[in-house]
Amino acid sequence: MDYEAFFDSEIAGLHREGRYRVFTDLERQAGRYPYATHHSPAGEREVTVWCSNDYLGMGQHPAVVGAMHEAIERCGAGAGGTRNISGTNHYHVLLEQELADLHGKEAALIFSSGYVSNWAALGTLGSKLPGCVIFSDEGNHASMIEGIRSSRAERQIFRHNDPEDLNRKLSLIEPGRAKLVAFESVYSMDGDIAPIDEICDVAEAHGALTYLDEVHAVGLYGARGGGISERMGLAHRLDVIEGTLGKAFAVHGGYITGSNRLCDFVRSFASGFIFTTSLPPAVAAGAAASIRHLKGSGVERARHQERVAKVRQALDAAGIPVLANRSHIVPVMVGDPVLCKAISDSLLDEFGIYVQPINYPTVPRGTERLRITPSPLHSNADIDHLVDALSTIWSRIGLSRQAAE
Ligand SMILES: Cc1ncc(COP(=O)(O)O)c(C=O)c1O
Repeated sequence: MDYEAFFDSEIAGLHREGRYRVFTDLERQAGRYPYATHHSPAGEREVTVWCSNDYLGMGQHPAVVGAMHEAIERCGAGAGGTRNISGTNHYHVLLEQELADLHGKEAALIFSSGYVSNWAALGTLGSKLPGCVIFSDEGNHASMIEGIRSSRAERQIFRHNDPEDLNRKLSLIEPGRAKLVAFESVYSMDGDIAPIDEICDVAEAHGALTYLDEVHAVGLYGARGGGISERMGLAHRLDVIEGTLGKAFAVHGGYITGSNRLCDFVRSFASGFIFTTSLPPAVAAGAAASIRHLKGSGVERARHQERVAKVRQALDAAGIPVLANRSHIVPVMVGDPVLCKAISDSLLDEFGIYVQPINYPTVPRGTERLRITPSPLHSNADIDHLVDALSTIWSRIGLSRQAAE
């Protein structure tokens, strides 16, 4: 086989569809978020970042950066092993306590990333619970889909955010079988929010475990940053709350929280937890400092919500088509991969604004978009500049408001 020709032809297909991914070479600047240096063949230039998942700017918070420096001074660079073989550092233990407390659960377990936590936890529960059927929201993230696939458990996909469809599907399964309902609180690309209470009602009626991905909500919602489940007073109804340390908490890693027994079970059987080097101690220390800070401070969350509302209002007033939702994610709908990339390129090259185009398979074909994520650190001037730039581009290409309808 001509392997190189095969790679070429597959990549050429992505180019033809206009969804070949080009990474933007950025150098983040501590203390200057949302500004970063963009490195390109044309040279270096400062840009304003409008698509980061460092939702609250905690990646440069003195409490986080300070905790990481201190941990490096105390412990050095890496963890030195897997959790079982010399790699459980005291910072990991403290982080797991912080996380269990965040969600009001008995225990927590940290993983290399949010992706790995979903893949490993769902993979393990689905493969080990005898005869398990997993009910998965059709909008679930790739990491959950991969976890469910690798578990080889029977899988039933229910309509997005539809408790009635879930109920219908659960009713068809023998009552005695193990069942697990997997869903998200804030869906990352549309920014819509799950009816967690209704899904819990249905799951409870059928004796199913509930598994909630709060990756795009932890740190951002609830009095202490415990996510939508905390805001709605529902954390106790979820058997597993999963999250990331890499978005609002702005460091790196993922986790699950749940009962002592459930976490011990995953700890003991999940290949993706057992056979990998644990997080660097400084990463665990930084994440714990971030969580601790956001448990005690609502300032960042309040300012975040205010900035999001302001961006939405300004985009609406300018006639830029934004998908309506009740979260912090502001999807500007384009509906064409080539156009979406062209708009993103113009924003970067002409206006010094960085918003990555979002294409298939991250979103369905025909719903390509610019996913804008305001932070508490974006100023009024930043917002005005973004909206002016988008307005200029929109009128230039003659896009109508109907594009999102
Ligand atoms: C819903 C959801 N779950 C899990 C993940 C994975 O989290 P991480 O980036 O920590 O691997 C993502 C990442 O974007 C996500 O959107």
